[in-house]
Amino acid sequence: MVCLGNICRSPLAEGILKNKLDNSKYFVDSAGTANWHEGKLPDHRSIEIASKKGIDITNQRSKPIKSSDLDTFDFIYAMDKSNYANIIDLAKNSNQKNKVNLILSNNNEVPDPYYGGEKGFENVFDMLNEACDRIVKELTVEK
Ligand code: 4NP
Repeated sequence: MVCLGNICRSPLAEGILKNKLDNSKYFVDSAGTANWHEGKLPDHRSIEIASKKGIDITNQRSKPIKSSDLDTFDFIYAMDKSNYANIIDLAKNSNQKNKVNLILSNNNEVPDPYYGGEKGFENVFDMLNEACDRIVKELTVEK
């Protein structure tokens, strides 16, 4: 799960997907395309909305994506088109590029809630929750 700062959207996406999968079978992680917040906890508004929905994301710390992640992971989900372009720039071959997708279908983006209010985070949570339901279905069909 990749966003810009790895403090708002992708930590929520990581927490939500982890919550829906058997963690002994799937490894879910998140990162940012920027390293500005490296080592920091998720934004308090992400922590709050997750907690309200019964998900604890306080074990997470922001980290930047690294090029080896494109080998390590089978699926890489970008929150918006800018994240997508930045991840594709790291890719060295078509195998790596093919792993990268926008998390929402129909070319939609998860809006950056950083400068918005609480409603923004609630909206982001709902979008990611739905997207993660779809991902779980896709992973199950592929098996
Ligand atoms: P995120 O949100 O990419 O969802 O973690 C942001 C967090 C921080 C900044 C921008 C977006 N920032 O400009 O510091």
